[in-house]
Amino acid sequence: MLGLKDAYGRVARDMRVSLTDRCNLRCTYCMPAEGMEWMPGEVTLTDDETIRLIRVAVELLGVTKVRFTGGEPLIRPGLADIVAGTKAMTAHHGGAPEAALTTNGIGLDRKLPALAAAGLDRVNISLDSLDRDRYKQLARRDRLADVLRSIDAVAASDLKPVKINSVIMRGVNEQDAIPLAEFALRNGYQLRFIEQMPLGPKGEWDRSQMVTQRELLDTLHTRFTLVPVDEPRGTSPAEIWDVLPDGTQPGGRIGVIASVTNPFCGACDRTRLTSDGQVRTCLFSNTETDLRSMMRGGASDQELADAWTGAHRLKPRAHGIDEDGFVQPERNMSAIGG
Ligand code: GTP
Ligand code: 5AD
Ligand code: SF4
Repeated sequence: MLGLKDAYGRVARDMRVSLTDRCNLRCTYCMPAEGMEWMPGEVTLTDDETIRLIRVAVELLGVTKVRFTGGEPLIRPGLADIVAGTKAMTAHHGGAPEAALTTNGIGLDRKLPALAAAGLDRVNISLDSLDRDRYKQLARRDRLADVLRSIDAVAASDLKPVKINSVIMRGVNEQDAIPLAEFALRNGYQLRFIEQMPLGPKGEWDRSQMVTQRELLDTLHTRFTLVPVDEPRGTSPAEIWDVLPDGTQPGGRIGVIASVTNPFCGACDRTRLTSDGQVRTCLFSNTETDLRSMMRGGASDQELADAWTGAHRLKPRAHGIDEDGFVQPERNMSAIGG
C-alpha cells in the first residue's frame, strides 16, 4: 500500500469528506448573513463519484476513519447511501472504516434511523448556546429547539458517545460556556470548546478578540474542579480534562480544541476531500488537487491514488496562523469541510 505520508513523517488515516458547501444556518464565524456563492451542481461530485474516491482512500491509501462534514451534510440527499457505501468497504485492518458525521443537528432526529441502518458509527453536533435568543443571534436562525431534539435522539440511540462542539466568542456567547458544560455533564455528553479560527467571512476574525483556551479554562475553573487527563492524546485535536463531581453535578470530561494557541498540527493525521472533488492536505493550505477532473477524464483508481499520495507529500508543517505572512484560505470552512 502506498499510504498518505507527508514530508514530516505524519501518516493520514482520517479523511474528512465535505458533502456540500450549503447550510441551513448562517453561523457568524462561518458565513456571511447572505450565504455564499454556492458551487454549481455540475462540479459537485455525484454519490457514486464520492463513494469511489472514498474507496480509493480506504482501500488503496490506508484511511481507516471517514468523517462527513459540510456545509451541512444532512442536507445532502444521498448521505445515507454514501455512508452505506463507505461501511461496505474493507480498510487495511480488515474491517470497515469508521463512519462519523459532524453536523449542526437540524433534522437529525428524523434521519437518524436511516443513518444508523446505513452503519453510521458516531455523530458530533455543534451547539454554541442553550439560550434561544443567543443561538438565534449566532446562527442567524431560530433553530435551537430542533438541535436539542436531535441531541436527545442521538442520546437515545446506539451512536455513542454524544459529542458536542461549541465555539465561544467574545461579547457573543461567553456566558454560555458554563451552562453548556453543566448541560453536557448532566447528560453524559462529551463537550469540546473550540477556539475560533480564521475560516469565516474575510476580516471577521481578530486574534485579539478570540477567546483562548486559557480564558476558557479560567472561566470553567470558577465553577468546576478540572484535572488534566493523563492519557496519550494521540491524534485527537482536543485536550481533555476530568471534571470532578461536586455533589450538585456529576463528573465527566470536557475538552478544548485550541487550534490557534496550542495547535495539534504536529500530530495531524487528516486528509480532506471537498464536495467538488478537490483533495486538500490541510484546512489552511491554498493548494488543491483536482481529482474530479482526473476521474471524469477517465483516470484509473491507481492513478487517482498516486495523485493523492503526491499531493499529500506537500502537506504543510503547520497552519501558521501566528506566523508572519499568514493568509486566510480562499475558501471558507463551509466549503472546505469542518
Ligand atoms: P473526533 O475526535 O473523531 O470526534 O472528531 P474531530 O474532533 O476530529 O471532528 P469535528 O468535526 O468534531 O471537529 C472538531 C473541530 O476541530 C472542528 O470544528 C474544527 O474547529 C477543528 N478541526 C477539525 N479539523 C481540523 C484541522 O484539520 N485543523 C485544525 N486546526 N482544526 C480542525
Ligand atoms: N473556527 C472554529 N470552528 C469553526 N467551526 C466552523 N467555523 C469555525 C471557525 N471559524 C466549527 C463548527 C462545527 C465544526 C464543523 O466546525 O462549530 O462544530
Ligand atoms: Fe452551517 Fe456549520 Fe457554518 Fe454553522 S458552522 S453556518 S452550521 S456550516
